[in-house]
Order: sequence, then C-alpha cells, then structure tokens
Amino acid sequence: MSSTHGAEVLVASNRGPVSYETGEDGSLRAKRGGGGLVSGLSAIGPETNAVWVCAALGDGDRAAVRRAEGGLLPEADTGGQRVRMLDIDPEVFAAAYNGIANSVLWFVHHMLYQTPLEPVFDAEFRRQWAAYEAYNRAFAKALAEEAGEGAAVLIQDYHLALAPRMLRRLRPDLRIGHFSHTPWAPAEYFRLLPDDIAAELLTGILGADRAAFLTRRWADAFTECCHAVLGPGIPAGTRIGVHGLGADADFLRERSHRPDVAERMAALRAEIGEGRRTIVRVDRTELSKNIVRGLLAYRQLLDEHPEWREKVVHVAFAYPSRQDLAVYREYTAEVQRVAEEINSAYGTPGWIPVVLHVKDDFARSLAAYRLADVALVNPIRDGMNLVAKEVPVVSDEGCALVLSREAGAHEELGEDALTVNPYDITGTAETLHTALTMPAEERAERSKRLAAAGTALPPARWFLDQLHALDDQSS
Ligand code: G6P
Repeated sequence: MSSTHGAEVLVASNRGPVSYETGEDGSLRAKRGGGGLVSGLSAIGPETNAVWVCAALGDGDRAAVRRAEGGLLPEADTGGQRVRMLDIDPEVFAAAYNGIANSVLWFVHHMLYQTPLEPVFDAEFRRQWAAYEAYNRAFAKALAEEAGEGAAVLIQDYHLALAPRMLRRLRPDLRIGHFSHTPWAPAEYFRLLPDDIAAELLTGILGADRAAFLTRRWADAFTECCHAVLGPGIPAGTRIGVHGLGADADFLRERSHRPDVAERMAALRAEIGEGRRTIVRVDRTELSKNIVRGLLAYRQLLDEHPEWREKVVHVAFAYPSRQDLAVYREYTAEVQRVAEEINSAYGTPGWIPVVLHVKDDFARSLAAYRLADVALVNPIRDGMNLVAKEVPVVSDEGCALVLSREAGAHEELGEDALTVNPYDITGTAETLHTALTMPAEERAERSKRLAAAGTALPPARWFLDQLHALDDQSS
C-alpha cells in the first residue's frame, strides 16, 4: 500500500502506542503499549503532527491494519497520534522480532549470554537475519512513502538498526535520527556477533545524521564498537548525541490519584496487612531485570535479619513480556517458583512474604508505587529504567531507592539512591536492610531529590530535543 501523508516529522518503532485484541464477537479493543520507548514517545504533542510508523504485533493488530482508513489507525485508539501500522508477513516478523531483535540483539546489548542461552550463529540465524533485513526494509519503504520533502525521521531502537541507511538511500533529502533505548554493548562483547553482521548493524545506524543514546556510557560504547569493527573514526556524516529520558511528573501525579488506583490500594493493603513495610518492584519479566536475584536477596534479608519477618512484604509485579520465546517464559516460571518457595518457607497464617502479581495492570502498579517504602530496581543492565524515576514521584510517604549501578538512571540518581551491584545477592540483601532502617525524614528528603532529578527531563522535552538536535549541526 502506498499512502503518502507528506509528513514533516516521522517516528518509527517496532511497538506503537496501541495494540489490539480481538473479542469473541470479532470486535477490536485497543490497549496502550508498554515499555520505556512507548512511554517516551507517547508524549509527542499534536503540534508536531508526526506520523508514527510501527509494526503489527499480532492478529488483533493485523485486523486493525486491514480496517485502517487511508492507512492510518483511528485517532480515538491512538490518543490522537497519526499511526501507520505495518502488516509485515508474520513469519518475517517473528524471525526479525523474536529471533534477531529479542534473542540476539537484546542479549548482546544487555550482556545476557550465559546458560541457558548461548549465541548460535548458524544457517537458522542467517535465515532470521534475512528476515530482519526485510523487516527493516519494510519500515524504510513506508517512511520513504510517508515523508514530505526534507522531513525529520526519528527511528527507534535495536529492532531498526538497518533502517537509517536503507532510508538514506531511498530518500537522501531526509534528516534522519536513530535513538537506542537499550544499553550499548562494550566492543569486546559486541564482537561476539559475526563480523559482517556487526558491521551491518553499525553502518546501518551510521546511515543516520545523528545516532543518540540515553546516557554518555552507551554512546561511548557505540563509538568504541565503531572503532573496533569498522576502523578508526566515526564517518563525518554522523553525529553522536545523548538524551536522557525522565518520568512525566504531571501525568503520574494526576493518574495516581484517580479512583481506580485508590481501589487497588485498598486491595493491596489487604494483601499486605496492617502496619507492614513494603519493598516494591515493577518490571516486565525478562532476564535483564534480574527479578530472581532480587527475590533471593529478599530471602537472605529474612534469614539474616529475622526481625523483619512478618514486618515487611515484598510486592513484586512481574508483567509478562515476549512470551513467544521459551527463554522469557522459563524466566517467568522461575520468578513464580522462587516467590512460591519463599512464601512456603517463611509465610505464616497472617503474613505472605512475597505478593507477586503477573497480570499487567497499570493502575495497580501506581497503587504499589504509592505504598512503597522501598523501591527495588536491580537490573543487570538497563538503558535507563523509568520505574526508578517514577516511584519517588508517586510514593505517598517518600521511598528509599535501591538501584543497580548498571541502570542508565543511576547516572542521574546515584547520589540519593542506595547503590547495588546487581549480581551481589548478599550486598543487595544488606542494602535492603539499610533502606528499611533509613530514618523517615532522611527517606522523605532523598525521595524528594530523586523525584526532582528523575523528572528533570520530561518525555515531551526528550522528544523535542532530539528533533531540534537533528537540525543543529553543533549537537
Ligand atoms: C524495551 C525496548 C523497547 C520495547 C520495550 C517493551 O524498553 O527498548 O523497544 O518496546 O522494551 O518490549 P516489547 O518487546 O514488548 O516491545
């Protein structure tokens, strides 16, 4: 389908602002997309009049594409955004998204290769790679069709590393930016990838006028990879930038005081029990979030500081993510198994040590944020991590933040957070104890400073800064 809307600003990402579920009667229900990328991009205001190009992720989305008039989804579903969803062949999509993006690139950038998932670069990988190329080509083609003369195009994340160069070839007139929401792997880890693939990924992104990252650390790692794989010097045409992404204070404060959140607070309070302290975490369930080590640290806390038994509850929301992949499903099962083990080993008739919920519910997440005494954010590696920035804004009494030094957010929050090495279970257990014993006044003050630092770069500004930087040759 070729539908040219002559847009002046375009955004491309695998996941768009909505996904659709089909009801039994064939009706389509639109649901807000999850993850940091969508939270950031959803702040694009109507004044930019952008067209957002994304992929259909399932059958509901595909049905919505078939019904889309003029190629765009109904604005009632998208929160007013102009969204073109691409119906990419399901096999191509599965190989590109599950195979390359989430089994290989995600694991490289988060340095997650270890048993049970080792990299296997064989004929099947090459077949999936061809699909990843085709998937990127479909985006480049759609963007080339949609873009007006000289338009700005902001391409997002590791799913779309090849699209900038492909688009540049189709439309040399465009100004192209690429933004990575993940960490970037250090050169020696990135070079696990076959040499030709490593070079393709880098030159793909270097096809943009500007390649941007969430922190200086990830930007430097990208530059190092370019030197190691392609030889010294970033091509003159590409600038490297950094744009931190913060939480949206106004949205969070308003949303967390609506009646549906109050209802869920009441239900959660009943599960937690009167007068108990809370350690809260909210994540998509995947290996980089390090949920299992967080649970093991909590168990060690109960062992070594038995005074906390019956006095504290670990509220862990671990929402399903990428369940088409066995390694993610198995991780979800392990999280559930370890939580159950702790509950049966330590629980008493009136006390459930771990309150684990796995069904996605945004209002309930906000309810947990409001009740948080301690927020636990301990990823192995994370591009930014918005939960670390959100909980201090929302928590009613102010929270202590236990934060991995490997999260991008640590660069901005490190001074007032309690820092942990994500692999160190004993260290994390001790830090949880420190967080729980922090005097209320100190906790409230730190939490206030964390909230201020975590909201200094609201999503709308993050987006507009990228757009302006594309035009500003000095940034
Ligand atoms: C990370 C990625 C995003 C992605 C999100 C959710 O934040 O950087 O690109 O949208 O995870 O993952 P999913 O695979 O469900 O889109």
